Amino acid sequence: TWTMLNIVEEQVESIREQVGEGRAICALSGGVDSAVAAAIVQRAIGDRLTCVYVDHGMMRQGETEQVRRDFEEVFDTLDVVDAADQFLDALAGVTDPEQKRKIIGREFIRTFEAAQVRVFGDAQEGETAFLVQGTLYPDVVESGGGAGTSNIKSHHNVGGLPEDLDFELIEPLRTLFKDEVRAVGEQLGLPSTMVWRQPFPGPGLGIRIIGEVTRDRLDILRAADAIAREEMTTAGLDRDIWQMPVVLLADVRSVGVQGDGRTYGHPVVLRPVTSEDAMTADWARLPYEVMEKISTRITNEVPEVNRVALDITSKPPGTIEWE
Ligand code: XMP
Repeated sequence: TWTMLNIVEEQVESIREQVGEGRAICALSGGVDSAVAAAIVQRAIGDRLTCVYVDHGMMRQGETEQVRRDFEEVFDTLDVVDAADQFLDALAGVTDPEQKRKIIGREFIRTFEAAQVRVFGDAQEGETAFLVQGTLYPDVVESGGGAGTSNIKSHHNVGGLPEDLDFELIEPLRTLFKDEVRAVGEQLGLPSTMVWRQPFPGPGLGIRIIGEVTRDRLDILRAADAIAREEMTTAGLDRDIWQMPVVLLADVRSVGVQGDGRTYGHPVVLRPVTSEDAMTADWARLPYEVMEKISTRITNEVPEVNRVALDITSKPPGTIEWE
């Protein structure tokens, strides 16, 4: 539409002014927000933009390979950083949700600082380091980013940023909602798999493990999540729901029975929601057959999980993610 084109043109102009002859890196997450932000900045400064994707060890099954394939078709420069050890070491022993978010936000920035030096070399005296982020309006509001905002949770790219930030931020989507970002993405001709990808939070599975984040727990959640996503896709439900987090209650165990044996495993919770903009949400009424299939497969195929529960809370009072 006319307004979306306008937004792009305005942003391109102001980014050109902000960056001048400088260079920028873009924090690419694999999601639509950072992809659209990157596409706008690429229009503004061309190959002086380098996209950096950080694998923090909390991505879903096959996700990094998928992102690499999808994005290499659209962006000339994609720098993939394997930072799993760095993030998971920093998270060892941490259970508090806000603390997790702050640590993840900080490690992201440290990783981008290192990438900046690796890609562009040491900064010249007086040179500004620019970081492009796909921050949306709801991220700002819910992180407590200014007047009229609340502090519900610190989104990794807003309230989770370290105080000693050396980057000057470029955030072309800061006034937009997700549906507007998708419209801009379509305007810019991004592939529809990218534009219609369901939201996935920057902190990844780290905020879907209730309790300490460990490699073993990540493996369990990744396996359960992969089954849930596969069944949702098979059932053709991907466009009907906003997203469906799968949450591992890692510190909870319950008794079950499988074959002739007692089990003492963990529950996972399915959190299917419908939403317009993630500010509010309703729990999605999934077909029973789909829930049944997911439950049966997860408990059969993931030995550590012996119960599948369904979250039937709207937002408010629940948030979409559990942390
Ligand atoms: P909540 O849990 O606040 O989530 O109802 C609203 C939407 O935002 C996503 N989310 C995040 N996205 N960084 C992100 O990029 C974050 O730190 C973050 N926390 C939540 C969540 O998946 C939902 O779509």
